[in-house]
Amino acid sequence: MNSIKIVSAQEAVNVVKNGDHIHLSSVASAPQSLIKALLERGDKGELKDVKIHHLHTEGAAPYADEKYAGIFQADQFFVGGNLRKQTQAGFADYIPVFLSETQKLYRCGALPINVAMIQVSPPDKHGFVSLGTSVDATLAAVECADHTIAVINKYVPRAFGDAMIHSSKIDIWCENHEPLEEAHFTTPDEIELAIGAHCAGLIEDGACLQMGIGAIPNAVLAKLGNHKNLGIHTEMFADGVLPLVEAGIINGENKGIDKGKMVSTFLMGSQKVYDFIDDNPMVSMMDVGYTNDPYIIAKNEKVTAINSALQIDITGQVCADSIGAKHYSGVGGQVDFIYGASLSKGGKAMIAMPSVTKKGMSKIAPMLNVGAGVVTTRAHMHYFVTEYGAVDLYGKTLQERARLIISVAHPDHQAELDKAAFERFGPHHTYIKNMCK
Ligand code: COA
Repeated sequence: MNSIKIVSAQEAVNVVKNGDHIHLSSVASAPQSLIKALLERGDKGELKDVKIHHLHTEGAAPYADEKYAGIFQADQFFVGGNLRKQTQAGFADYIPVFLSETQKLYRCGALPINVAMIQVSPPDKHGFVSLGTSVDATLAAVECADHTIAVINKYVPRAFGDAMIHSSKIDIWCENHEPLEEAHFTTPDEIELAIGAHCAGLIEDGACLQMGIGAIPNAVLAKLGNHKNLGIHTEMFADGVLPLVEAGIINGENKGIDKGKMVSTFLMGSQKVYDFIDDNPMVSMMDVGYTNDPYIIAKNEKVTAINSALQIDITGQVCADSIGAKHYSGVGGQVDFIYGASLSKGGKAMIAMPSVTKKGMSKIAPMLNVGAGVVTTRAHMHYFVTEYGAVDLYGKTLQERARLIISVAHPDHQAELDKAAFERFGPHHTYIKNMCK
């Protein structure tokens, strides 16, 4: 710590030049003090055409406000709630990319990276700091950037794995101690719990779990109280895993790699999650090129990947990142894990979602809305789960899929979906439907 010279956030961000590309450590760990200092330079007219990259972040992200057009441009790898409106209005943008490859964008030079702005735990006696809750593409940004500005923050958990980096990788230091942004999830409702129960019914003892983002993961975890020897190899986890670890249900005993460890690349949850990973040898926070590589994922057996979606068509094309042409979130790690699970011995890949929106609109459609992005292709699809049950689409024809998908649609919408399937596939569709009753 003695050899580290601490400067103010204002001084630190002076390194940013016009046209630079900046990476921000992401999710719970966006370096708010540096963002604020950067905005001050923007307000003074000192900067233009600065690109800002990150996964989704929690907390304020004013650099994408209309008034910063031409000064800052947020080109994100995943769109979170704090930049959704600005993205839909065109003031921020999205780079379609598999989460596994976000690191590669920097490492292969597809995206320039001039300044990495990160938060780290205080240096230990060996000079190591931890990236805490955001290793994802942040480690690659640190490796590739011309400058790394690190904010020492005692609230950044001292997470192990690739998260641990040596101080020599950082050339500009600041200090600012403030709690990480917390993400709070609502208690699962009846429909989500029904979906959770169907997913849990497919999860075997000894399975290695990945759960995506959204309301469903906690609903599934809530139903795993009687399982045994579960493992975690995922891109993120949140509060839902904690009771299962405490009960010894998640113990990683059955894992083929990283035995006994919970592997993740970023985290968002309550302070309890951040406390849990602090100084915890059971948790390995790894580079996203490791956690999300389908071939690494498949080194574990019984990988069970559960992700959610916004819309699915009757052939199994999954839209998870937009509502029609309105961009909502991102590809994230959905395809990485669906493919990894399908390569894993005994693996199961699931897309789980309520059959209707809160307003009663069917999320199962004859065709995806105009402008909807296909995240998971129909060739990648295995299990599809709603509150009405789980169906396995793998190896099924288009017409068989239509019948299976419609069988777990909301009863109020089944007749119209059947009609659409009939129009699309002809009378033979009805024939298959009746044959399979
Ligand atoms: N038509 C219109 N609106 C729809 C809709 C549809 N078919 N489906 C959902 N919506 C609306 C909901 O009503 C809700 O609106 P609100 O915010 O006004 O309440 C909003 O879209 C979000 O839907 P919800 O079902 O609450 O989403 P969720 O929080 O459970 O998250 C995904 C689901 C698909 C958005 C989320 O899993 C995601 O972003 N996935 C990205 C890919 C992925 O899975 N990556 C792996 C993890 S990084």
